[in-house]
Amino acid sequence: MPARLVVLASGSGSTLQAILDAAADPGFGAEVVAAGTDVKDCAAMVRAEAAGVPTFSVQLRDFADRQVWNDALAEQVAAHRPDLVVLAGFMRLLAPSVVRRFRIVNTHPALLPAFPGAHAIRDALAAGLDTTGVTVHWVDEGVDTGPVITQTAVAIEPGDDEDRLRTRIQAVEKPLYVNAIRQLCQEILG
Ligand code: GAR
Repeated sequence: MPARLVVLASGSGSTLQAILDAAADPGFGAEVVAAGTDVKDCAAMVRAEAAGVPTFSVQLRDFADRQVWNDALAEQVAAHRPDLVVLAGFMRLLAPSVVRRFRIVNTHPALLPAFPGAHAIRDALAAGLDTTGVTVHWVDEGVDTGPVITQTAVAIEPGDDEDRLRTRIQAVEKPLYVNAIRQLCQEILG
């Protein structure tokens, strides 16, 4: 039985697409059973629907407060009985109640603990370093503070702007994340 993945995304969904493409191979050992978002109609959900994957949308503005939103999101996720919840450009912090309820993995475009948060690529450029990278990590209650699973460095080149650097980071990030998910699913399912 393949592992059941629920993928959460807020944006263009290129990371989700890489996971969908990998999971199309039965040898991958996992299937995307649902994709969810906090941004209704984002491109990521369009990609999921095109792949025939059920989607759900839970928008913060439709709820009384963050905890109620987190509770609603958790119920949607739980309904799909995930073995692993995969964040793929999901740009909101999850409450401790959600983090404790599921196994959740994230990819972040920096070498954590450097440059946590929503602007990692911009922050790495502004710091004037010559190296940044990608980190795949478990999600805990902090902002990008969970245990590191794997990391890869990416050189910052002269003349890089945010778009150029993001393109090179994401080229490394997709295979790193897909391979990490494959391995985690093998470990989870034994
Ligand atoms: C990815 O590069 C991911 O690392 C980043 O958002 C991008 C999503 O791209 N996530 C974060 O910055 C989380 N703090 P996508 O929408 O094309 O998949």
